[in-house]
Amino acid sequence: MIEIRNVSQRFAGPQGWIEALHNVNLTIPPGEVFGIIGRSGAGKSTLVRTLNLLTRPTEGDIVVNGRTLTSLSSADLREARREIGMIFQHFNLLSSRTVFDNVALPLELAGVKRAEIEATVLPLLELVGLTAQKDRYPSQISGGQKQRVGIARALASKPKVLLSDEATSALDPETTRAILDLLRKINRELNLTIVMITHQMEVIKQVCDRVAVLDAGRVVESGPVIDVFLQPHHEVTRALLGDVIAQELPPALKARVAEHLAKGSGHLLRLAFKGTGVDQPVLSETIRRFELDFNILHGQIDEIQGQAFGSLAVLAGGDPLKVAQAMAWLREQGVVVEELSHVE
Ligand SMILES: Nc1ncnc2c1ncn2[C@@H]1O[C@H](COP(=O)(O)OP(=O)(O)OP(=O)(O)O)[C@@H](O)[C@H]1O
Ligand SMILES: [Mg+2]
Repeated sequence: MIEIRNVSQRFAGPQGWIEALHNVNLTIPPGEVFGIIGRSGAGKSTLVRTLNLLTRPTEGDIVVNGRTLTSLSSADLREARREIGMIFQHFNLLSSRTVFDNVALPLELAGVKRAEIEATVLPLLELVGLTAQKDRYPSQISGGQKQRVGIARALASKPKVLLSDEATSALDPETTRAILDLLRKINRELNLTIVMITHQMEVIKQVCDRVAVLDAGRVVESGPVIDVFLQPHHEVTRALLGDVIAQELPPALKARVAEHLAKGSGHLLRLAFKGTGVDQPVLSETIRRFELDFNILHGQIDEIQGQAFGSLAVLAGGDPLKVAQAMAWLREQGVVVEELSHVE
């Protein structure tokens, strides 16, 4: 478990203080993949660097597995840091060392004997799928393979926590998926807590159990990924979600809907479902019960961490009172209903 308690971080800038983190509080449960997302400059890298005290927070505490890192002596901190591995966007491999020797490096530095190093590194190379490449140099392998080396190296000191700062940002979508699948596998098999820093909602959707949204150094939203997808509260979350699920109608469709709404009465609704709500004939039931006209304008069914998730834009026509009743009934069925616009 990682606890970030009242963490603030200020840097001296040319025009005064920069508050990179402002009173951040987060609890990261053990064994989860926890995503931290935000735009460029939101404070993501600063936050991940405070987690292992690469930068010491100006205020607040970091507690990892019950140990308050912020109050440890430097010797104890070095020891505690061994439980925290890290992977990076640009891999940070040593070009003069082979794949094997890059993974072995942290063990060599810790004074581990050669036989023990081999006994640790070879299974790790197997785990990340690099056994055949073990004697190659970084210049002789692909970006995805480099990140696999980075992951194996981070795992060499048997950490309990893995911090990942934009580890897939330099990779193409297919390689990204493969690396994210590998991280998920490691999370499950080794029961490793993973903190994923990213600016891509797609990454959050693919591997994270929980997400926190950071904006201008503050946590503006956090929760289980499916809940945040169902009902995003903050505009930054909505904007970031726009890459993965449509938050607005396509412009051409919007113009036609506006025309339609201007002519008569109607309600433009966004419905979001999770789990069985997607499969059940909730919509047809609503239409029958409340004698409404439902026109589906836009829809998307997806899967998040094995749970079905759907988002629909619907034009509802009929008695306004019945539309209101239908909205209340849909909410009772666990559907998130949001009115985008309406004309009476
Ligand atoms: N060492 C530093 N000295 C001064 N300002 C800093 C320092 N590190 C970060 N900052 C500032 O803190 C803010 C947050 O930076 P940070 O690197 O954490 O953002 P980020 O969310 O990781 O962005 P990106 O997505 O571009 O990597 C920025 O305004 C940045 O300029
Ligand atoms: Mg960053």
